Amino acid sequence: MTTRALIITSSILAENGQSNTLANRFIEQANARNGIEATQRDVVKNALPHLDINELGAWQAAAERTAEQQALAARSETLLAELRANDVLVIAVPMYNLGIPSQLKAWFDRVLRAGETFRYTENGPQGLVEGKRAIILAARGGKYAGTEMDSQTPHLKAMLGLMGIKDTHVVYAEGLNMGEQHRDAALKEAFQAIDQLVEGL
Ligand SMILES: Cc1cc2nc3c(=O)[nH]c(=O)nc-3n(C[C@H](O)[C@H](O)[C@H](O)COP(=O)(O)O)c2cc1C
Repeated sequence: MTTRALIITSSILAENGQSNTLANRFIEQANARNGIEATQRDVVKNALPHLDINELGAWQAAAERTAEQQALAARSETLLAELRANDVLVIAVPMYNLGIPSQLKAWFDRVLRAGETFRYTENGPQGLVEGKRAIILAARGGKYAGTEMDSQTPHLKAMLGLMGIKDTHVVYAEGLNMGEQHRDAALKEAFQAIDQLVEGL
């Protein structure tokens, strides 16, 4: 059986992005093994605009869409289909100003949709995405994991959880801007964790 992994990359630094280095390690390891099919989506190279009232209106217009609304709705529909077609969601994410890149937020704004990936019930929201797991590859200049300053990991986990993806593993590469020694050690440790995760897929 093939495991399909969707790798979302979101660094503004292209090939110099450290989170892209982590994603590339994952892809290399996945490609070296049988039974894993890796697809990459770079949300910076293929940047989405901010979600606005016209696009929201296109979702709500459902069957009675104009040609313009069809094109707007297609953005989200393409991304939803891609998400549904994969078993593992790998999110390579740099920390920018204590949060996720706005390009990655724009991606979440297209896939976190009531009626599509979650719904509201009398008991609160219920995720509609079943049987998937997520791996977060987090690259950071400083060290924030497990502290109150880390508003990034809880946010990502909450968004994934809302869709029903509760099995989430985080690999941190922290202290990347704290000197060469810190950086090399953090990347080495993160690579080992990635290799183990790919091994376990
Ligand atoms: C605009 C910008 C904002 C940043 N803000 C933070 C931050 O709030 N906390 C932090 O630890 N590192 C911060 N950094 C450093 C990055 O997290 C670090 O360079 C990491 O490697 C970025 O991932 P990337 O190389 O994949 O883009 C920032 C870097 C940039 C370019």
